[in-house]
Amino acid sequence: MLKEAASLIMKHTVATRRHLTPELVLRLITPECPLWRATEHQIPFKDPFWAFYWPGGQATARFILDNADQFKNRTILDVGCGCGAGSIAAAKVGAKRVVANDIDHFAVTATKINAGLNDVTIETSTNDLIGARCEEFDTILIGDMFYNEEFASLLFEWLLRLSTKDGKTVLIGDPGRHGLTTARRQQMSLAARYDLPAHICMENHGFTHADVWTLNK
Ligand SMILES: C[S@@+](CC[C@H](N)C(=O)[O-])C[C@H]1O[C@@H](n2cnc3c(N)ncnc32)[C@H](O)[C@@H]1O
Repeated sequence: MLKEAASLIMKHTVATRRHLTPELVLRLITPECPLWRATEHQIPFKDPFWAFYWPGGQATARFILDNADQFKNRTILDVGCGCGAGSIAAAKVGAKRVVANDIDHFAVTATKINAGLNDVTIETSTNDLIGARCEEFDTILIGDMFYNEEFASLLFEWLLRLSTKDGKTVLIGDPGRHGLTTARRQQMSLAARYDLPAHICMENHGFTHADVWTLNK
């Protein structure tokens, strides 16, 4: 773990359980933190997506904790892990192997800190795996990554290939972002829908619920 990154994360985040998975304690930037209202140039991190627990990621982790039998003994890759909640949930319910992946090294450091806080051990990777074969894994987790159309298109094409050609289980948590178009939703099945409590809704542009989808095989 990069020591400097870890101490910056510890300085600017607080431990919180005010989310859809209170079983997990996570270091995040919350409305109580000075950085919540800081301007771009006051923030010592570039695009600190990992410092927030996105509604799609909350739904994915909630689903894992509520459906432990589907993840026990599985080999899991959490792409775009952010704060690491999906990986931590999978490790908690007895997955055989969990790799938390994010191209932002701060995300991976935050994930390691959060894994420690929750007494689980997970592996991490900062490689860009979009397009990779993922032979070592049977399950791919995606939390809230359909916020940008260009990336959504690349991501969806890859996930669809992993699911339909390689038989992987692909789980996608999403609050209704534009990147999950009707055409894309027609290739997925709804596994669960979670209402978001008022404070999460307010902090997330008014999204009222978050869904968990599985890609059809
Ligand atoms: C919106 S955040 C979601 C984080 C987390 N899954 C959640 O739901 O709370 C998207 C994350 O994807 C990461 N990301 C973006 N492109 C990526 C890529 N090609 N491979 C892995 N991670 C990526 C970002 O660094 C960021 O942490």
